[in-house]
Formats: sequence, C-alpha cells, structure tokens
Amino acid sequence: MEPTIAWYLRMSVIYFVAGAVIGFIMILSPDSAGHYISVHAHFNLLGFMSMMIYGVGYHILPKFSGRQMYSPLIMRIQFWVANAGLLGMALGWPLRSRGDVLNLAGPVLIIASLLSLLAVVLFAFNMLKTIKSV
Ligand code: HEM
Ligand code: HEM
Repeated sequence: MEPTIAWYLRMSVIYFVAGAVIGFIMILSPDSAGHYISVHAHFNLLGFMSMMIYGVGYHILPKFSGRQMYSPLIMRIQFWVANAGLLGMALGWPLRSRGDVLNLAGPVLIIASLLSLLAVVLFAFNMLKTIKSV
C-alpha cells in the first residue's frame, strides 16, 4: 500500500480514538462539554470518517476505474493540508469559547478552516480526474 494512504488510515483511527475520548470526557464533565462539542464532532466526522474515506478512496477508486491515480502529489499535499486544517480548527474552537486573551482564535479558525476546505477540494479534484471516463 502507498505509504501516504496508510497514513490517512492511521490518522483516521487516531482521530476516532481522540474523538471518542473527548466524547467520554464530555459525559464526565458536562459543565465544560460545550467548549469541546465541535472538536468532538469534527474529530469524528472530518477526522475519522473523512480521513478514512480519503484513504480508502485513494486506494480503491483508481482500481475500480482501471486507472492510475491522477496525482499522487496532490494526494500527499492534501494529507498535510487536511491534518493541519483539522488540528487548527480543534485548537481554535476551545480557544475562542474559553476566552481568547490574545485574539488568536479568529485568525487560527479562518486559516484552519480554509485549509480543511482546500483539502476537500483537492480530494474532489483528484478523484474526479482519476475516475473521468475519457
Ligand atoms: C465513545 C463514543 C462517543 C461519546 C462518549 C460521545 C459523546 C458525545 C457527547 C457527550 C456529546 C454532546 C451531546 C450534547 O450535550 O448535546 C456528543 C455530541 C456529538 N457527537 Fe458524540 N460521542 C461519541 C461518538 C461519536 C461518533 C462516533 C460520532 C460521529 C461519527 C459522534 C458525533 C457527534 C456529533 C456530530 C455531536 C454534536 C451533536 C450536536 O451538535 O448536538 N459522536 N457526543
Ligand atoms: C471544511 C471543513 C469544515 C469546516 C470549516 C466546518 C466548520 C464548522 C463550523 C464553523 C461549525 C459550527 C461550530 C460552532 O459554532 O461551534 C460546524 C458545525 C458542524 N459541522 Fe462542520 N465543518 C467542516 C466539515 C464538516 C464535515 C465534513 C462534517 C460532517 C461529515 C461536519 C459536520 C458538522 C456538524 C455535525 C456540526 C454541528 C456540531 C458542532 O457544533 O460542531 N463538518 N462546522
């Protein structure tokens, strides 16, 4: 298996464990749970689910369509962009809701969410180019 694909799958299960641990901590301390709902939700949905789909998609879909992946380079860049984006969002949300003395949360969230969006677009572009039939 291509090493970057294995890393998508590894990071996916790491986010799943982290998301589940955060969910459990939210049960234990309901008073501060509100600060972490978005981190929990996105570790599970953008981390575990999306990262798993990126990895499995990159591994399986080129085989289904009997083609090479359009751009392994885009896949590698997307890996770093997606992880930086998600981790930045996970840092920015609690920072914003817990009181942000340095006013860093806003810029962190804008840059991180832009990176997450870019990762989605890179995946969509790479996949569409890979499966296109002509
Ligand atoms: C060990 C497993 C999990 C635990 C203990 C857990 C716990 C929680 C808790 C305590 C909340 C806050 C509920 C509230 O007060 O409104 C929550 C919200 C949420 N959880 Fe989980 N969760 C788990 C797994 C998952 C998984 C696997 C997913 C998705 C794949 C998920 C997605 C969400 C989402 C999207 C919300 C936000 C819902 C909203 O906006 O009201 N959770 N979870
Ligand atoms: C480009 C990537 C994404 C960005 C920038 C983003 C951004 C956001 C923002 C700003 C919120 C509101 C959070 C708050 O007010 O505290 C939110 C909520 C939510 N998003 Fe996303 N999101 C992204 C991707 C996704 C994906 C891929 C999923 C599902 C597969 C998802 C599921 C949810 C859910 C369930 C909520 C409500 C729970 C919560 O409050 O966190 N998001 N998202």
